[in-house]
Amino acid sequence: MSLKGRDIISIRDLSREEIEEVIKASRRMLPYAEGTKAGHQLDGHVLTLAFFEPSTRTRLSFETAMARLGGRCVTIADAGTSSLSKGETLYDTIRVLSAYGDAIVLRHPNEGAARLAAQASNKPVLNAGDGAGQHPTQTLLDLATMQEAVGTLSGLKVVLLGDLKYGRTVHSLAHALALFGAELVLSSPPSLKLPDEVREHLDEMGAKVTEEGQLHRAIRDADVLYVTRIQRERFGDEAEYARVAGSYRIDRAVLAGAKPRLVVLHPLPRTAEIAPEIDDTPHAAYFRQVFLGVPVRMALLCLVLTGKAQ
Ligand code: NCD
Repeated sequence: MSLKGRDIISIRDLSREEIEEVIKASRRMLPYAEGTKAGHQLDGHVLTLAFFEPSTRTRLSFETAMARLGGRCVTIADAGTSSLSKGETLYDTIRVLSAYGDAIVLRHPNEGAARLAAQASNKPVLNAGDGAGQHPTQTLLDLATMQEAVGTLSGLKVVLLGDLKYGRTVHSLAHALALFGAELVLSSPPSLKLPDEVREHLDEMGAKVTEEGQLHRAIRDADVLYVTRIQRERFGDEAEYARVAGSYRIDRAVLAGAKPRLVVLHPLPRTAEIAPEIDDTPHAAYFRQVFLGVPVRMALLCLVLTGKAQ
């Protein structure tokens, strides 16, 4: 099935073959992302970015992807500057936006907002994060980074560390890794475990999943360590956040017990969960991960808007 015209709301909307197609196409996009080749694949296309939550990487990598392939963006980067602040419903706002550009990228604090937006829009909607729900385009670039750093996506042992409860990147990534047959090790503070719904879904998929609260044990023979930030903005009360803040931190001492080829990823922004001293070790792949957001989003945009990515 072609990705042309499709909504990407959850990573579950994509098959393993479709995910592989995007990753493969992203490699063809590297010279355009690096700026060594001028792209025209999206000449004349307009992408609408509607961001109702803070973002640096996601929004700017979508904008960069469009700009380097000849397309343009129109952007709401702050709910306060849109008519939502006048009481317009999200449904109406999205319906209006779908009259302008060729596709809509939405980030919103409410889980389910992207699904609602897809109903309101007659243009494709790409979910760039809906509350503690899903973040499927992040998963595509997470997988592309693993593929590049490890050389394969099959047979991986991946530790998911941190805020597995509110971390939407993890909710999407866990499903995709299960599709590729990865072994998952969940490591989180007890109050921030993976939601039951996500865990049950992984079990139904037949995924190999274990829990290991002891960090040094969790990472011992892992190929990838995926670190996440505690999602402070999703906590109902600050005292609850204070109880878990700073409860894990990756530094050189922690990684001393890991495989020499362990790849450390993080969707960023980081707070204190990865010590800066890790940045110049061969383990650190999180800044490469940031860069790969551009070719991966280029590939996805080309496929959704034009049906091909050359
Ligand atoms: C993530 C997000 O927004 O969910 N950031 C991102 O898109 N790279 C992770 C986070 O905010 O912790």
